[in-house]
Amino acid sequence: MKPATSLLHSLASHPALYDLIQRATGADEVNRRLRESANGFARGEWWLDVGGGTGLASDIGLEYTHHVVVDIDEAKLIGFRRTHAGGLAVQGDATRLPIVSEVADLVLCRAVSHHLDDAELERLFAEAARALRPGGRFLFLDAVAAPSRLRSRLLWRYDRGSHPRDARDLRAVFVRYFDIVTWTTFTIHHAYVIGVGIRHPPAD
Ligand SMILES: C[S@@+](CC[C@H](N)C(=O)[O-])C[C@H]1O[C@@H](n2cnc3c(N)ncnc32)[C@H](O)[C@@H]1O
Repeated sequence: MKPATSLLHSLASHPALYDLIQRATGADEVNRRLRESANGFARGEWWLDVGGGTGLASDIGLEYTHHVVVDIDEAKLIGFRRTHAGGLAVQGDATRLPIVSEVADLVLCRAVSHHLDDAELERLFAEAARALRPGGRFLFLDAVAAPSRLRSRLLWRYDRGSHPRDARDLRAVFVRYFDIVTWTTFTIHHAYVIGVGIRHPPAD
């Protein structure tokens, strides 16, 4: 990685600056879309935000009794704790969630999958499915590769995540763990996909 890009990445990982950059690049509109996709399951008991970072997804306006953020980066969780007194921040790996099975009414995963390689992506979805109680929903969002768009190419060039994927490739992995309720693509600077899934029923 070039030194300038590396400097950019370490600056952008500061929680307050991270939030500022995300808002400048459309985070509020992304959250509005997520809220729209969560229509019908916007309230419940346990809500788990996997790779939740500083807690930007809290703005979606979900009304759950308990909010748990799991993230691998302690600095992001410190940012989360500063601004979300009622939430629980847990340092942990999305591919080995430190969470008992079948507890969450909703698992959200926003802008995380492009940080994971293919084997890790499988484990992320498997772990999200394991954490969900039967009937619970998985709400998934990420930016996707769109090589024909100049803006997408530029954004990916400077992103910390090194695994941008085609929406169809993501969907092919998603359906191995979840029945699809909705699968929506849209563009705000980046091209995005939002997937809503219910975990497969256990085999007899
Ligand atoms: C682009 S940020 C998104 C943060 C948050 N979900 C949001 O939408 O603002 C990606 C997040 O994934 C976290 N992350 C990356 N790999 C992870 C892993 N294996 N387990 C847990 N968190 C991870 C990073 O620490 C970072 O907070």
